[in-house]
Parts: sequence; structure tokens; C-alpha cells
Amino acid sequence: MNQNSPTAGGIIACPITIELNGQTRQLEVFPWTTLLDLLREQLALTGTKKGCDHGQCGACTVLLNGRRINSCLTLAVMHDGAELTTIEGLADGDSLHPMQAAFVKHDAFQCGYCTPGQICSAVGMVSEGRAQSLGEIREQMSGNLCRCGAYPNILAAIEEAMPETRKTLGAVQTDAQKGVREVQP
Ligand code: FES
Ligand code: FES
Repeated sequence: MNQNSPTAGGIIACPITIELNGQTRQLEVFPWTTLLDLLREQLALTGTKKGCDHGQCGACTVLLNGRRINSCLTLAVMHDGAELTTIEGLADGDSLHPMQAAFVKHDAFQCGYCTPGQICSAVGMVSEGRAQSLGEIREQMSGNLCRCGAYPNILAAIEEAMPETRKTLGAVQTDAQKGVREVQP
């Protein structure tokens, strides 16, 4: 923090550094700013959606240090030094991530509002390595709601993209190999 740091009500914004979609970002955030609001309001990364803002719908799911998390339920200031991947960071240049490509192929959306969270959650789920059947995928994805009811297509897309997604998960798998199993949602 420095003399020019933003203030609100006498509270000075806190400095944090995060690795966001492969880029180091030095930021100043107020202690009450959620990770979701940091992304959407401060950084204009509006791919991550705000649905319920209460941890109920999964629309705000992002990958934090390789694990999926509801970004509406956590404060940005808690994540100094973290590695964060949002839907904007999944593609490799013009090449869609395999999970994104599968969602397009299977028409796994209608309005699309839940889709960024579904895709981030699916990538996180694959890294956990526990979903081996359609029933397990359905259970592991149960924190991501789709008000349009596109679930059959979403499941088909995830099932098809799992093998290719595993190949892209170097950093995420490192976490899994360390025995990290804490999962949200
Ligand atoms: S916005 Fe619904 S869980 Fe975060
Ligand atoms: S596609 Fe509309 S909420 Fe899922």
C-alpha cells in the first residue's frame, strides 16, 4: 500500500499479487471485495458470471491454484500469491480448450449464463480424477445449476472432453498428486 492507494470510509485498499490467466497482476483490493467482484468489476473479466452471489449456483466457478471454487464466497484479499484461471484463460490463443470445444460440439448451452462456470468446474473435476462414470460426473457437477436444463448435453460434452482435458492439466494434476482433495462447490 502507498499514499496513492484507494481508500473508502477510511479503509485503505490492500496490495495483492496474483497470477491471473498466466499473467502476474499487482492489484489493490478492499478487504470486503469478493474474488468475483474483483474479476468482474475491477478487472472487467466478465466471463465469470454472478448468479446467486451466495454459493448456490456455481455460475462464478473459477480455478484457484488448480481447484474449483465459488468466487462469490471468497475474498480477494485472501489470495495474495495465488494462481487463478478464469474462463478467459482456458483457451490457448485461438484454440479452444478441449472442454470448451466439446460444449460447442454438443450444443451444451442455451442462454449460456451458466456455461463459464460449468466449463471451469468440469476442468477442475477432471483434475480430481474421481468421476469415472456418467453418474459420478453428474454428482461431481451437482453444484453447477443450469436454469435452461441443458444437463444431458453438458454431461455428454464433459464425458467426451475428459481424456483430452487430462492432457492439459499439468499444474492442476500436480495439486492432485499432492493429495489435495478439497473441492468447492
Ligand atoms: S454466484 Fe452463485 S455460487 Fe457464486
Ligand atoms: S444454458 Fe442457460 S442457465 Fe445453463
